[in-house]
This record gives sequence, C-alpha cells and structure tokens, in this order.
Amino acid sequence: MAGIHSTVQGPPAGGIRRHPVTEREFSVIADILNLGRGMSFKDAAAQIPNGGCKLGVHTSTPPEDRDDRFYGFLAYCIDRSDAFTGPDMGLSPADADRIRKYTHNIVGGTARSGSGGATGVTAGWGVFLAMEEALKFRGRDGVSGVHVAVQGVGELGSPLIEHLLSAGAQVTAGDIATDAMEARLIPIEKKTGKKVDRIPADQVLGIQCDILAPCAVGGVIDADTIPTLGCTMVIGGANNQLAARSEAQELAMARAVADRKILFVPDWIVNAGGVIQGKMEHVHEKDFSLNEARAETARIIPPNVRDVLLRADAESITPLQAAYRKFEPIVYG
Ligand code: PHE
Repeated sequence: MAGIHSTVQGPPAGGIRRHPVTEREFSVIADILNLGRGMSFKDAAAQIPNGGCKLGVHTSTPPEDRDDRFYGFLAYCIDRSDAFTGPDMGLSPADADRIRKYTHNIVGGTARSGSGGATGVTAGWGVFLAMEEALKFRGRDGVSGVHVAVQGVGELGSPLIEHLLSAGAQVTAGDIATDAMEARLIPIEKKTGKKVDRIPADQVLGIQCDILAPCAVGGVIDADTIPTLGCTMVIGGANNQLAARSEAQELAMARAVADRKILFVPDWIVNAGGVIQGKMEHVHEKDFSLNEARAETARIIPPNVRDVLLRADAESITPLQAAYRKFEPIVYG
C-alpha cells in the first residue's frame, strides 16, 4: 500500500513499513495514511524538496522465506509510487539491500553494502540534539544527570541511548523483544562504560523521569496513558506518538498532554534526522558522507525545536500547533 499524502514539494519520500497479518487491514491503512501525512511535515521541516508518503507491506513472511519475487515486487511498488524510501519498522537494512538490487529508490541498507547504513543512526542523533535544545529552553545545561526513559531499543533507540550515556544521562529502557534489546545494549554499555536500567516495555511510559523517549510503535500516548505519564517532557523518535487519525485529534491529544504540564515536542520535528540522512544518500549515492548527514541534522533540528517552543510560548499554544502553523504553508502551498 502506498500512502501518498502530498507531492506539492516534489516526489514523495517516506519509509516502507511492514505490518504483520495479525493486524487488521483497516488499522494498517489508517497507520500508513497517518504516517504519510507526518512525512509531508517531516520533509518540510527537514528542508527536503519532497512530498510525503509511507509505504506499507501487510505480510508476516519471515526473512528466510522472502525471495527475489518479494523484494522485486516491493521495488516495483516503490518505483510506481515515484517515491524514494528506506526501511521502516518491520523491515531491516538487509531487506533494503535486497530491494536495492531492483531499484535505487531505496536507501538505508547495510553499511557494508556501500549504503549509508541504517538511517536510525542519524535519526537517533537528531533526537539527542532535540533533547539538548529542549532542556536548554527550560534552563538546563545538557543531558548530564537527566533521567531519560527510552521505549524501544531498535535501530533508532540504540544510537540515542549511546549518545545519552556518553553525555552523562541516566537511562532506563524497555523493549518487548528482550533478547534483541540485550544484544544491542551490551555493546553500548561496554563502549560507554555506563549501565542502562532495564524495565518491562509496558512500564516505560509510567516511570518517573525527566524525558520520555518513545522510540518504537506509534500511538503510545492516548487518553488512557496521558494520566499515567511520569515524565516532564516527551521527546522521542517514534512516528505518530500521539494516538490520532487526523490533525484535529492530534492537536486535542497534544493539548491534553500540555494540560498535565508535560512538554511534548512534535515527533516529526525531532526525528527528521533519518530522512535527512536518507535524502543525502539518495542524492549522493556512493559519495554519501555520514558526517555530512550529522552536520545537516545539527543545522536543522535544534533551531526547529527552539523556534517551535518559542512560538508556542509566545502564542500560548502547544508546540504541536506551533509546528503545524509554521510548516502548513510549505506543505499545503
Ligand atoms: N523512515 C524514515 C522516517 O520515518 C524516513 C526515511 C525516508 C528514511 C526515506 C529513509 C528514506 O522518518
């Protein structure tokens, strides 16, 4: 399924995500369309001349059963959508390598394939920078001593945790895939010499902390979870963190979070580092430089965070509303 939200800025850019067949078709369609809308705004915020889309594959086929026809078909769908894409939840950089045999409109393959590697690396870096900026806005200097709870230790959560530990933050993390989480955390702990507190994934939202970083599935912040949040800020890498199926619902949810005196920084402002890396790889191919992607992310994300927080304060609106006001003229022309 191709959820193309906008082509006003150019051909659509967005990830390709896999949903297992246990999920209802309606919820897959709603997810992809919402993610597509988020991508239009993310691409605008990232200063990328692309519209927004998300592609969705509804299949439980395990990696060992995915053959060339599977990957070739996905490549065909990507090209027919006129999109450039990268692996999102449910598909890996190794999947991207195999799709790339058939189209160059997918990036974010494994680094050893000559690709720029997983875009979560730069996305995680951008989330870290967004946290620093929001803390600065609240009068704190850096993440040292700040307690961050990370939900999801995957392609994005892992690099984020590494940056946080290196900068002296206290990190608590949880992931439903506990073995995979261990496999990622152990090398990070070795490298940084710091420890991460593990808790069950379903307890991350409620833990008392400074910053909650949802870095896995979307929709984790809803009417049931808002009263239970134990953080003072929500700044994370997951897409569509607020459970909503329209901009109006999303704004109402952001208001409910703000009413609890919790600062929610819009996900598509915070996690744009992935598409920034992806765009640079798509344009520069073999000459792509990860350092340049990091520099571009540092140029774009912190000023966006600051501007949105300033506008929100000045106009007594939520940062989400401020972000929509700032970027709607670009997205809708
Ligand atoms: N999937 C990434 C996101 O959700 C964006 C991306 C798009 C990455 C295209 C690579 C290529 O932000």
